[in-house]
Amino acid sequence: MRYASVTLVLCVLLGLLGCDSGGSSSEMTEPESPTDPLRDLASQQSVRVGAAARAGPLLDGGQYASVLAREFNALTPENTMKWTPLRPSADSFDFSVADQVVAFAEENDMDVRGHTLVWHRQLPNWLTSHDWSRDSLMTILETHVKTVVNHYEETYPNRIARWDVVNEAISGTSRRPSIWQETIGPEYVALAFQWAHEADSDAKLYYNDYGIAGTSDKSDAVYDLVRGLVEEGVPIDGVGLQAHVLTYPPPPTEEAIVRNMQRYEDLGLDVAITELDVRVPLNTDGEDGRPSSEQLDQQADYYARFANACVGAPNCSDFRMWGFTDAVSWIPNAYDGYGAALIFDETYEPKPAYDALARALGESSGDGN
Ligand code: XIL
Repeated sequence: MRYASVTLVLCVLLGLLGCDSGGSSSEMTEPESPTDPLRDLASQQSVRVGAAARAGPLLDGGQYASVLAREFNALTPENTMKWTPLRPSADSFDFSVADQVVAFAEENDMDVRGHTLVWHRQLPNWLTSHDWSRDSLMTILETHVKTVVNHYEETYPNRIARWDVVNEAISGTSRRPSIWQETIGPEYVALAFQWAHEADSDAKLYYNDYGIAGTSDKSDAVYDLVRGLVEEGVPIDGVGLQAHVLTYPPPPTEEAIVRNMQRYEDLGLDVAITELDVRVPLNTDGEDGRPSSEQLDQQADYYARFANACVGAPNCSDFRMWGFTDAVSWIPNAYDGYGAALIFDETYEPKPAYDALARALGESSGDGN
């Protein structure tokens, strides 16, 4: 029987003592992991398994926090290290919420992926509404990158071993227009890596983007950008493959993902699956807004596909999803008509994707990979 059903039965028997599917904590109803927790399976083969963590429900405690800590040995702050929360004004930093997320990771022995230092979205108004000179914007960016990376290196040494330094700088096959690109110029990418490296020379520094897990024109454009950085001697250590994919049209084949990972290996770079989710079109097939069992099985195959590719690749040791429960997911807001993208449902019941992932992580653990 699944742990959520056990929890439900216990709740009824024990007179509903603090039972709540998404909210308050109760040691009495602490759910058991349905298999060995994913973090145990993954650590047997030196792969981190993680999820994006949203500060609100995480800091509330409750089932969100307990399942996250039970299943994962890594987390990525979903929003709290972006510019808007960290930079209330040009002259100030507010690390209060992000620090609590990192403290949670420390308490639960989880690795934190820093996300993200340079992006075109979630920027504060004071930054985007002003007409900066190139020099002043460069100073602002340098201060931001160095202050944030330094803060974490000093406050939580070695807890953030990897940073998504630059996020989504390619649109289609060219440089994406952004305040950074327009005002500083294309060299903002190399500069950001350089500044991050100066702040923490041990951290692994990544370029991160979507639509680049397999082979495609965009994937090639990112590869060319990254190869250029390597050739220039820019301190870049890896490439994050976000992997926000759909049940249909299907994601890249495992072979294409493996081939893509290999070409970065040939450049001497690591890769990571940084933001996997597999969204499902809902309200199709008369399923009344619920995913069908065919969709869930398809989704499970795709989760396993990415996990197998990462586990098998010599340069992939970081496998993360963009959330873990359908109760807390960016998908319904970002993609109208889609949802159910994660490995636990809204009531923290594991889905077929959970089992497929546990198998993918568990199976290879015996063969010395
Ligand atoms: C998303 C968050 O999940 C949302 O809560 C927020 O409103 C927008 O950003 N690629 C990224 C992530 O690198 O930072 C984005 O996160 C999802 C796409």
